[in-house]
Amino acid sequence: MTNHQSETLKKLPTHVAVIMDGNGRWAQAKDLPRTAGHRAGAEAVRVVVTECRRLGIPHLTLYAFSSENWQRPQLEVRELFNLLLEFLHSEASLMEEKGISLRVLGDVRGVPLATRAALRHVVQRTARGTGMTLALAINYGGRAEIVNAARQLLREGKRPEDITEESLAACLYTKGMPDPDLLIRTGGEQRLSNFLLYQCAYAELYFTSTPWPDFGAEHLRQALSDYAARARRFGKTQEQTHDG
Ligand code: IPE
Ligand code: IPE
Ligand code: MG
Repeated sequence: MTNHQSETLKKLPTHVAVIMDGNGRWAQAKDLPRTAGHRAGAEAVRVVVTECRRLGIPHLTLYAFSSENWQRPQLEVRELFNLLLEFLHSEASLMEEKGISLRVLGDVRGVPLATRAALRHVVQRTARGTGMTLALAINYGGRAEIVNAARQLLREGKRPEDITEESLAACLYTKGMPDPDLLIRTGGEQRLSNFLLYQCAYAELYFTSTPWPDFGAEHLRQALSDYAARARRFGKTQEQTHDG
């Protein structure tokens, strides 16, 4: 192992979050339907989940479907949920074997019934896994998540002074998870698209033009090595953080 690689492994993020973007454009560039891009994207999910598990990254969150993605053509939406269903069916036993526990971030009430049932089943089946958390953001919207948290606190009868950053965070879908250290977005766009707005306050951002279907283990390691070379200061000076 080179020095560079061992440095990367020493400074692995605890939580990696990914905006898996560029499936549609990947397919269109090949004269294929957008859904072919999503199918290829599902394969990239397998590769990246496996590599994160192998490297020992404790938390991986993947943005699979935003609350805004309902505005897409009905056929595309249907295919996305079918692919998710296929993924759950084919990966559940391997996830269990590898100690990967599934969790869902988002409003599952909006998710088609068969997919919702499969999600519930795999979440239960993998609940004892301690190797890695795989969180899938499905029908997820960051602003709605914060609004829901505020509503929950009010319903619990909290007084204004009881509302803290921690008590609010405990009402988010990510309750109990550490904040993302590294946020990767593939596909060339440089925006958050309503993803983990509260949680990414201090995430390191990594943008790549590689479309999601082409993003493999090597690309992930590149992002991790980029992350390892960064100095995180959390508002302090370089001297205070001993990182420079
Ligand atoms: C990401 O790829 C997948 C989802 C948003 C579900 P896109 O489908 O957004 O691909 P582009 O951005 O159109 O290329
Ligand atoms: C973000 O991608 C959502 C997911 C990756 C699931 P989009 O393709 O929906 O984002 P915008 O519309 O380009 O911002
Ligand atoms: Mg997109």
